[in-house]
Amino acid sequence: MTTTPSLPDRPFLGFGLGLRPTHYETILNDSPAIDWFEIISENYLVPGGKPLHYLDRIRERYPMVMHGVSLSIGSHDALDREYLKQLRSLADRVEPEWISDHLCWTGAHGLNAHDLLPLPYTEEALQHVVARVGEVQDFLGRRVLLENVSSYVTYPESEMSEWEFLREIAARADCLILLDINNIYVSSINHEFDPRDYLQSIPVERVWQFHLAGHRNHGDYIIDTHDEPVVDPVWDLYTQALRRFGRVSTMIERDDNIPPLPELLAELEHARRLAAAGQRQRTVTAA
Ligand SMILES: [Fe+2]
Repeated sequence: MTTTPSLPDRPFLGFGLGLRPTHYETILNDSPAIDWFEIISENYLVPGGKPLHYLDRIRERYPMVMHGVSLSIGSHDALDREYLKQLRSLADRVEPEWISDHLCWTGAHGLNAHDLLPLPYTEEALQHVVARVGEVQDFLGRRVLLENVSSYVTYPESEMSEWEFLREIAARADCLILLDINNIYVSSINHEFDPRDYLQSIPVERVWQFHLAGHRNHGDYIIDTHDEPVVDPVWDLYTQALRRFGRVSTMIERDDNIPPLPELLAELEHARRLAAAGQRQRTVTAA
């Protein structure tokens, strides 16, 4: 009989940013007060060249986590073994605190949709994803974090909510969760659910990282663009998440319209302050 090893205590890295090429030089010249960086794994899979040169130099100074967009854990296509091999060698090089990707599918029949597409929330899809997460974790020799995506469509076949689906995946596959607070907010507007129901349903011990990001609000729907600062309702939801989950490593994702680093540092400082206030409140409540 095999037994599942118990979860280690959740590491807390502090407050990080996504590593973006436009900031490479500033980071090396100024060593800004950022606790850690999240890298997009796919940007560093080609041997040699500038990206790896910068990656190595920045890694010497900062802890890192790896975040992928190509795993396509929900697809019916076979897992891409070549990609997994590349991921494993990048992990050998970077020695990341953890590796994450998305709970989604990105294509079928060998075609890439270049988007993070939601799954139907069915028992069949659950079993399919759980088996594949097991394969990935065996191959990489570690638990991975899966992130909730923002979505614009739902399936009539769904038998459960997104949060029930995510919770079940994590429990059955024994994997971890990267909770994107902005994505919960975006989907809650697009699909008209209460984001607090989402937070309440997710197991505290499996959430090892938070994402925060900006989006474009078009009134009755929201597009997750990552090209704007984090908006107040997402900060509010972050505050609620802090109440439930406690100290969780938090980072801000900015993928377009990328401002100078000080602007992102100011946003990160806001996250730090909210987390510190949340921590004080938890201490008072527990006393
Ligand atoms: Fe995210």
